[in-house]
Amino acid sequence: MSQEILAVYPGSFDPLTNGHLDIITRSSKLFCKIIVAVTTNYNKKHTFSLDERLRLLRESTKDLNNIEILSFSGLLAKYLEQIKSFVVIRGLRALSDFEYEFQMALMNRNLNKKIETIFLIPDQSYTFLSSTMVKEIAMLGGDVSCFVPKCVEEELKNKYQKK
Ligand code: PNS
Repeated sequence: MSQEILAVYPGSFDPLTNGHLDIITRSSKLFCKIIVAVTTNYNKKHTFSLDERLRLLRESTKDLNNIEILSFSGLLAKYLEQIKSFVVIRGLRALSDFEYEFQMALMNRNLNKKIETIFLIPDQSYTFLSSTMVKEIAMLGGDVSCFVPKCVEEELKNKYQKK
């Protein structure tokens, strides 16, 4: 049954990490199609433009054939209604993620009672990984090659070595 479900993995992906990629790969095995829906998180100041984030995601997922990378603006609940999907995928790394994710899942369900949020746990080697930390390490000249796909590593170098 779940094989017929279109699921949406929303996020800001600023930038994509191997942790995000792990969640994308896991969800691609559970659902017939996944839309990775990139948007602006108004609570964050993004480093990568929307176009850059989309390009890096497309490049990194090109071998997964049931994944589509799209963008949306406005409320996730409205976007889900538009594309007729009611399943949201989110990654849960640690207890510290839980409160925010719990609030978001319930808020989305309040906006549309059909929405179900499914939490996937990434490989334990990624549970400490975050885009914010990766950017800080790259900005300070550290090696991020084991945390992000090659194209993201190169883009981080371009961004921070120019400065
Ligand atoms: O990767 P992030 O930044 O943790 O993702 C958060 C995101 C983008 C999924 C969330 O901020 C979101 O859904 N934004 C769209 C606007 C919206 O629906 N806000 C209300 C969420 S309850």
